[in-house]
Amino acid sequence: EVLKQKVWDDEMSSNMLGSEMKKLWQDYQNINTYGVKLSSPGGVSSRLKLTGPELLCQLKEKVELTTLTSDLEPFSELPWASQLPGKQLTSDVGPYKTCAVVSSAGALLKSRLGKEIDSHDAVIRFNGAPTRGFEEDVGSKTTIHLFNSKVMAKDKYHFLSSPLYNSGVLVAWDPAPFSSDLTQWYNHTEYPIFLQYQKHKKLHPRQPFYILHPRFGWQLWQLIQDNMAEPIQKNPPSSGLLGIVLMMSLCEVVHVYEFLPSHRKTDLCHYYQRFYDAACTLGSYHPLLYEKNLVKRMNLGSNLKIYVDGRVTLPGFSTMNC
Ligand code: C5P
Repeated sequence: EVLKQKVWDDEMSSNMLGSEMKKLWQDYQNINTYGVKLSSPGGVSSRLKLTGPELLCQLKEKVELTTLTSDLEPFSELPWASQLPGKQLTSDVGPYKTCAVVSSAGALLKSRLGKEIDSHDAVIRFNGAPTRGFEEDVGSKTTIHLFNSKVMAKDKYHFLSSPLYNSGVLVAWDPAPFSSDLTQWYNHTEYPIFLQYQKHKKLHPRQPFYILHPRFGWQLWQLIQDNMAEPIQKNPPSSGLLGIVLMMSLCEVVHVYEFLPSHRKTDLCHYYQRFYDAACTLGSYHPLLYEKNLVKRMNLGSNLKIYVDGRVTLPGFSTMNC
């Protein structure tokens, strides 16, 4: 079990971080932008560490993938309501047998995982991640593209004109206040997600395009916090984890690539950019450290697979007997 020391430790905590990362973590600890309320008043309670199967069942039971539909208030009252899907993502998309979740980590470079990734029935990618020019390492198939509202709003992403966003199934999310209803969120989104959604819909009326219900992200946040021994950042989970749980809701088996770093682990933030920052892998805004602890605990695959391919295997919810 030499390998155990070389792959992600599922008890990773802030005090194992280097001084620079630890300071960053501290800074984010003190911010509560979305008014997150801890359910146990004393903060984090002394918890029982759940087994992998227990954790998987808790995820299946407590976190429901929900998307916005045209019948929901306040959207039903708005003139553009009919642009929103009439049905849930889960009833329109899939089910698939095997799926791939491709993190955007720099460690994917030189991985030669492209063929394996493309061999899955469905592949999800995130935010600004391209395939062109990186096919050998990340593949070329994109079934679902999940991104945050910043990608939709900031000019540098060219959301309305880039070919990255004009094919496949699109899924977007925006951080909402922790305890707000849809109307409150609609009036105070972090980025103009609904404006950009309508513009995109005008250009590509037939392309499936879903928006995650903010409750989904916060349910997932709660589950992470409930299973960690220390307080986590009070911000929504990363796009990567949202995508993992989304695929567990649509697929029989989910393979996740370079979310838990392989032997190629690097400070290179994304495989498609020359930008170095350890926080991309360890988290700053997002509770990414704890997301990775959770995924490590749920992994059905071996430490060797993580070390060699950065690959984690998770069961789809439909195959689990809880
Ligand atoms: O940075 P971005 O959010 O676009 O990357 C997509 C996802 O890939 C992240 O949300 C995170 O879950 C994962 N990621 C990672 N390590 C990196 C970069 C990204 O785990 N170095």
